Amino acid sequence: MSEMLEKARKYEKEESAKVARDNRPMFHFSTPVGWMNDPNGFSEFRGEHHLFFQYYPYATHWDSMHWGHAKSTDFIKWEYLPAALAPDCAYDNFGVFSGSAMEDNGKQVLIYTGVEEKILENGEKRICQNQCIAVGDGVDYRKLEKNPVVTADMLPEGSSMEDFRDPKMWKEDGRYYMVAGNRSSDGSGQIALFYADRLDEWKYSGILDRSENKCGKMWECPDFYPLGGKQVLMISPQEMEAEGLEFHNGSNTAFLIGNYEKEMLRFSREAIQNVDYGLDFYAPQTMQTEDGRRVMIGWMQSWDNPMYPDTQLWSGMMTIPRELSLINGRIYQKPVRELNKYRKNSVSYKGICVEKETGLEEIEGRSIDLECILKGNEYGKFKIRLAADEKRYSEIVYDREDKILTFDRTHSGLQKDTISTRSMYVESKKDVLSLRILVDKYSVEIFVNDGEQVMTSLIYTPSNASKISFESNGKIYIDVTKYEIGVE
Ligand code: FRU
Repeated sequence: MSEMLEKARKYEKEESAKVARDNRPMFHFSTPVGWMNDPNGFSEFRGEHHLFFQYYPYATHWDSMHWGHAKSTDFIKWEYLPAALAPDCAYDNFGVFSGSAMEDNGKQVLIYTGVEEKILENGEKRICQNQCIAVGDGVDYRKLEKNPVVTADMLPEGSSMEDFRDPKMWKEDGRYYMVAGNRSSDGSGQIALFYADRLDEWKYSGILDRSENKCGKMWECPDFYPLGGKQVLMISPQEMEAEGLEFHNGSNTAFLIGNYEKEMLRFSREAIQNVDYGLDFYAPQTMQTEDGRRVMIGWMQSWDNPMYPDTQLWSGMMTIPRELSLINGRIYQKPVRELNKYRKNSVSYKGICVEKETGLEEIEGRSIDLECILKGNEYGKFKIRLAADEKRYSEIVYDREDKILTFDRTHSGLQKDTISTRSMYVESKKDVLSLRILVDKYSVEIFVNDGEQVMTSLIYTPSNASKISFESNGKIYIDVTKYEIGVE
């Protein structure tokens, strides 16, 4: 093991003991210490779910990237494992960037972007991004002698040599495949496909899809998987321009839904859908479980609006892992079913008529799974205030006439004038709207109409602000069930 990795492992072990458990999310994955961004290597290995992540153990801001590591048998309770990779080779001296993992012949294979900072003869610095492999036993990994195994000069002419990253790998019919993000000669995003018969001998196959300056600039963190008879190319485009309420400015995430002609290795896009309409969601990745579910996890943060208190010794949370399904051409997301076994102390109300601000006994909390069914057509606006105390609150507002659902954290206790609202069009079906809201200390995930749309945002309200109330300007009838979530 390199000195650099040994140092990271020692540091995280000593320091994570100092981070109080009750300061952290209850049922969402968070970094043990330091900084975390993208999920990496989300995959099955020897019957357990593994999650790696972009990691800088020594401070709560982004810096020289390592890979952190954890595993779980149920997606909710995670066991931290020692850091898996450090930027300890010449070809990854600037960072071990995002990538993926796979079980192969009893070994765990990691593929990542090695970022190299080269000093040219004239003294100028140049960043190069290439794809590298490490093989291991689920804890310790050995980087291949032949790294990097996929280099930017394999890309079509005019493609960016600096922006070439985030490989997602899989194996099919005995052959390895990999997609990676890149920029084409027009400066905007494209996804390149590669294949190999040996892990250290890759060939370029083609470009699966491209932005053509219509869907953002660089396309980061691609994933490519079958779902419900279609094929999904999932991307995280940067520098996108807002499109109605579907996409916002800056970093977004999108499902490109289409068909894949396997023999020709060609993808044709039919539809595009926003993955998550909230303020803090990026770089999602999926895995397939042994029982055949496609499960996605994302980073709950935004590069455009990073916010976390300076006093924390850790920074970075993941979304709840979500099961994906394709229904009538749209991708639905639901919290993994394993979450249900951590529900306790349920409190339910049925058919409560709300007009003025109403609180319901025991409907409160900061680590909860809250189900609300809203019925009626006599109201204009309905509000749920949560994580509230005398001064602070975050609001979910449904404007029935305009069919717009908004999350607003303006009064959640922010210290800066950070972007605080996000809205999306939501159809209430036959005057019924269903919301499942996961609140876990500093995050709020709203699953609308059984996961047809999702909105994920962070709040950094002090964790004793736990009140919830409902308000409407006209009669509305609500069914509410609250479960506390407890993970030992
Ligand atoms: C996405 C990303 C990736 C890159 C990583 C670096 O959030 O920018 O493209 O590999 O973060 O930490």
